[in-house]
Amino acid sequence: MERLHFGVDYYPEHWERERWDTDAKLMQKMGIQMVRMAEFSWHKLQPAEDVFDFAWLDEAIELLGKYGIYTIVGTPTAAPPAWMIHKHPDILPIDRKGRVRGFGGRHHDCQSNPVYREYIRKLVTQMAKHYGENPYVIGWQPDNELGNSHQDLCTCDYCRRRFQAWLQKKYQTADELNRAWGTAFWSQEYNDFAEVPAPRLTVTGENPSAMLDWKRFCSDLIVDFTEEQTKIIRTYAKNQFITHNYMGFANKVDYYKLGELLDFVSHDQYPGGFYLPETPHEKNHVLAATLDVVRSYKNQPFWIMEQQSGITGWETMGRAPRPGQLSAWAMQSIAHGADAVVFFRWRTCALGTEQYWHGILPHSGNPGRRYEELQDFIHEMKPLMDNLQNSMIKSETGIVFSFEQEYAFQIQPHHRDLSYTGQVQKYYRALYEQNIPVDFVPAEGDFQKYRLLIAPLQYLMSPELEDKYMEYVRQGGHLVLTMRTGVKDTNNLCMTELELPGRLSQLAGVEVLDYDCLRDDEVAVLFEGESLQAHIWSDLMRLLPGTETIARYGSQFYAGEPCITEHPYGEGVCYYVGTEPGDALMDKFMARICKESGVCPIMPPVAEVECTIRENDRERFLFVINHAGEAKDYQVPQGWKLLKGRQAGSLGAYETQILSRQQ
Ligand code: GAL
Ligand code: ZN
Repeated sequence: MERLHFGVDYYPEHWERERWDTDAKLMQKMGIQMVRMAEFSWHKLQPAEDVFDFAWLDEAIELLGKYGIYTIVGTPTAAPPAWMIHKHPDILPIDRKGRVRGFGGRHHDCQSNPVYREYIRKLVTQMAKHYGENPYVIGWQPDNELGNSHQDLCTCDYCRRRFQAWLQKKYQTADELNRAWGTAFWSQEYNDFAEVPAPRLTVTGENPSAMLDWKRFCSDLIVDFTEEQTKIIRTYAKNQFITHNYMGFANKVDYYKLGELLDFVSHDQYPGGFYLPETPHEKNHVLAATLDVVRSYKNQPFWIMEQQSGITGWETMGRAPRPGQLSAWAMQSIAHGADAVVFFRWRTCALGTEQYWHGILPHSGNPGRRYEELQDFIHEMKPLMDNLQNSMIKSETGIVFSFEQEYAFQIQPHHRDLSYTGQVQKYYRALYEQNIPVDFVPAEGDFQKYRLLIAPLQYLMSPELEDKYMEYVRQGGHLVLTMRTGVKDTNNLCMTELELPGRLSQLAGVEVLDYDCLRDDEVAVLFEGESLQAHIWSDLMRLLPGTETIARYGSQFYAGEPCITEHPYGEGVCYYVGTEPGDALMDKFMARICKESGVCPIMPPVAEVECTIRENDRERFLFVINHAGEAKDYQVPQGWKLLKGRQAGSLGAYETQILSRQQ
C-alpha cells in the first residue's frame, strides 16, 4: 500500500447521497488519500436501542475506496443519541454547581455512567467486528478530543463513588487520606471514604490537596474510558492503528498517559484561533510550541487529524486565511514532526453549530481558492513526504512539561496572570526566536540527552525528582530552575523542613527566605549593564557559597539583591531565576545560557521566519517558513541543497523552502 500523508475529515451523512461521487472525485483530484468519518454519528449507526445500521457507512467507505481513498473510523461516543438520553437521563453529566448539562451539544455524558459504558461496549464491539478487517479501513479514533467539554464534569453519584474507590485504592485508610489532604484545616476530616464528596461548588475556598487528587482522578477516568474502547478495537482490528486527536496543551487528561494506549498521537491544529469572541489569533511561537509538545507526548512523529482549512468560528468568526497561509500552517505542522495532515473539514457545513467553521469547499460545494491552494500544496509535498516519514527533530534543549504542575497551578495560580503552561511558553518563545529546537520532556523522561534543561515552576516536588535534577547537573547538564520550586510535596501540602527550594538549595545554591507577589506592579532587573523589566513575582534569596549573581533587582525594597543566579554543581551548572523575566530580559538571559551550555541555533534569526530540522540516519531536512505576508530573505547555511522552493534564501509571502543534506 502507498504511504498515506494527506486526508480530510468527511461527513457524508450531512449531504445527499447523490453528492458523494462528486466529493470522492474532487478529493482524488486534489490528492486526498484518506478520510476520517463517523466520529459523531451515533444515531445514524444505531438509530434505536436494538437497531444497528452500518449500511450507509459501508457504502461511503466502499465508494471512497474505489477512488483510492482510505478511511479512519471514529467511534461516535462523544455524541450519545437522544433516544438513549431520554431512556437514561442520568447519562447526562452534572457540573460543579450541581446543574445537569442537557442534550443538544456534544459530550453530554458522564464517563463513569455504567449504562452509557455498556452501550459503548456494545456499539464499539459491533463496529470493530464489522470494520476490523475491511481493507479500506486503516485505523481508528476513539471518541473525539477527549477532555474537551469536560471543564468541570462530572460530579454525579457514579463519579463520586468512583472517586471514593480511587482514593481508597491510593490511601487505604481514612487516616492516611486525612493526613495527605491536611483535613485538620477547617474540620474537614473524613471518618470513612463514603463521606468524601465529588467536589461541588463550595461556599468559600477549596482544599488544594483534594482538588489535586480530583484532577488526577478525572484524568485517569478519561484514560480508563478510552482504554475500554481501545481494548475492544485491538481484539478485532489487528492490523489497523489507533490514534486520538489531541488538543496541544489542553489539560483535562494527562496526554503522556493517554498516549500509552495509542499507536501514535494526532492533534487538531487551528492557528486561526477558536470560536470564542475573546480568543486571539494564535502567535507563531505558541503554534510551534503546541506542535513540539504533541511530538513530545510519545517522542515520535505524529499526525494532524484536523488542520485548519478555512475561516474558523462558531457564533463569531476569525480572519480569512491569507493566500498561502493555509499551506504555511500545514507546512509548520510537517516541519515539527507531522507525518500526515488531515484537513478539517471537506465542505463547510450547512447544518448545526459549526456552520461557520469553514472547510476546504465553501457551502456551495464548488472548489475555490482554498481547494486550489491545498491541491497545489498536496501535489508539491506528496513526493517529499515519503522521505520525511519517521524523521525526527533532534533537540539539545528540553523544557520539562508536566500535567501535575499544571493541575497544581490551576488550583493556586498565585497571580492573576501566572499560568504554568503560559510560563513554559515564555521560556519556549525566547528559544524559538533564536532558532533553537526544543523538546518537551515529562518529569519521568530522559533528561540526560539535553545539554540544556529548563524546568519552570517545579512547584510539586518529590525526593525522586530532586535526585533526578541533581544527577542531571552532576553529570554535566545545564539546568534552569525558577521561582516556586520545591514548595509543595506531591499531596499539595507545603514543605516545611528546609528553606525553599528545599533539598534543591544544594543544587541551585540559593535559599529563598522571602518573596513578593508583584500584583499589578513590576520590578526592574539589572542584567549585563542594562535595566530590564520582570513581572509577577520576586524571590528574595540568600546565596550559598560558590553561587554567583547574574542579575540583581533594580527596584522595590529589595533593590540590589540577587534575582538570577548561577551555581556550578558537579560537572554542570544550575541557574535559578527568581522572577518572571519580561521578553527583553528573557531573550538576553536565554542567549547567554545557550552559549554557556553549547546549544547552537539552526541559523541566524529573521523576524517571522521559522526554521526546523527533521532528520533520519541518512538525511537532514531544513524547513524555512515565512509567516509574513511579505517577502523575506534569510542566509542559506553552507552545504544544503534546495528541495522545494524557487530561489534559496528568498522567500515569497507565506512561502516555505525545504533544503536537505546528507548526514
Ligand atoms: C475540533 C473538533 C471538531 C470540530 C472542530 C471545529 O475541536 O474536534 O469536531 O468541532 O473543532 O469546531
Ligand atoms: Zn458522572
